[in-house]
Amino acid sequence: MSANLAAIFYLVSGILFILALRGLSSPDTSRQGNYFGITGMIIAIVVTFLSIGNFSTSLVYVLLFLVIGGAIGAFIAFKIPMTAMPELVAGFHSLVGLAAVFVAIAAFLNPAAFNLGNIGDIKLASLIEMSIGAAVGAITFSGSIIAFLKLRGIMSGAPITFSGQHILNLILGIGIFVLIFYLCKTQSTNIFWTVILISFLVGVLLIIPIGGADMPVVISMLNSYSGWAAAGIGFTLENTALIITGALVGSSGAILSYIMCKAMNRSFVSVILGGFGADNSSKDKKEKKDQKPVKSGNAEDAAFLMKNASSVIIVPGYGMAVAQAQHALREMVDKLKKNDIKVTYAIHPVAGRMPGHMNVLLAEANVPYDEVFELEDINNDFANSDVAFVIGANDVTNPVAKTDPKSPIFGMPVLDVEKCKSVLFVKRSLSPGYAGIDNELFYKDNTLMLFADAKKMTEDIVKNLD
Ligand code: TAP
Repeated sequence: MSANLAAIFYLVSGILFILALRGLSSPDTSRQGNYFGITGMIIAIVVTFLSIGNFSTSLVYVLLFLVIGGAIGAFIAFKIPMTAMPELVAGFHSLVGLAAVFVAIAAFLNPAAFNLGNIGDIKLASLIEMSIGAAVGAITFSGSIIAFLKLRGIMSGAPITFSGQHILNLILGIGIFVLIFYLCKTQSTNIFWTVILISFLVGVLLIIPIGGADMPVVISMLNSYSGWAAAGIGFTLENTALIITGALVGSSGAILSYIMCKAMNRSFVSVILGGFGADNSSKDKKEKKDQKPVKSGNAEDAAFLMKNASSVIIVPGYGMAVAQAQHALREMVDKLKKNDIKVTYAIHPVAGRMPGHMNVLLAEANVPYDEVFELEDINNDFANSDVAFVIGANDVTNPVAKTDPKSPIFGMPVLDVEKCKSVLFVKRSLSPGYAGIDNELFYKDNTLMLFADAKKMTEDIVKNLD
């Protein structure tokens, strides 16, 4: 295939990727967006193969590994539970970073194969591109591995901090730039390897101080890094599709990080510097919690309260995802609506464990999109509603975010469920949520705790609504 024809097809796939991102911005169009993305990727892969032209044995290997890798990817995607999606994304990002490092190593050790010059005489621009691509890729790789280990619970989610940490990171960051400068002057293999090794270390050091509650931002930030690493390598390989895709992933990841920081009222810089999201459930708080009385009820009580309400707002959270209670919830809502009760859903931007987590689950249960509202569109309605049915959510309702400047979630906008006449909390215990902090709403007079698995409790409520 001629270079011009390939460029046109790459442009087409680039446009399809942009349409995919546009589609993914709303639940209504997300399926269509996915199809655009898949088509764009198929075009990009086929054109890349056709532009190589001569089908050597190494291409057979590439095809073989593509099939094996694709099959593993498909298998994992089918098997993975929705709740494990964040760590899966972190794991996949690590592979993008590693791929960028490998391509950069291949290009540095065999520049002639990439039309970049000869060993010791690589073009300056290529040298800069490949060393930056390798550094960003290495940071993405080791950072994503740490994020994966933390999210999977293999490593503690608490921030790991030590004095002088930021200075050390700064020195290492500057060190990478200085080494790249000398690499460009000397083309030394040792310097090249040192850049990669220091970058691996920086990836680890950047992510260990970041606590659990900031992980979503970190994931999308790493997503952004992996995109920029791919774009850098796209320049080395002179592959337009890779440059476009990398830039789209890089910028959309950065925008998503910004949106999430805004949703949590955190500055991007404070997220990157870390130290947030430690387990704040201090001993005295636990003692206080143990002493405080709570009102608890059963499915019959909940059904009675809701049957006599004229409006109910559902607040789903991580526990609904764990229990896979969305279908039972839909059934419950259908019954309430048959009784002429107005039911709406309130979605907090960081409810669950990934952006859009709740929307995806509700869509899976065929909940109509027009019943689902974002925080800013529904928060005023709690004051005029009878019941807030909080199913597996905790941090996103915690009023401490408004009152205690020392709280790790201080400043994060929360759903004002306590303004409803009654608040029903479906969860298994008084345990804190992701941020590790107690929720004073459990002990309020207008709260009724429904201690059970979210799916089991919802199914029991459905039975009691008959
Ligand atoms: P959380 O505050 O994490 O609370 C979830 C609650 O669900 C827990 O308190 C737990 O209590 C309950 N639960 C767990 N399994 C359950 C089950 N089978 N049945 C019933 N309840 C169950 O969740 P949230 O309110 O959705 O807030 C999300 C938190 O995660 C925020 O702090 C956010 O910053 C963080 N986060 C968000 C994301 C994104 S992007 N959405 C990603 C990572 C982290 P019991 O153990 O007592 O049942």
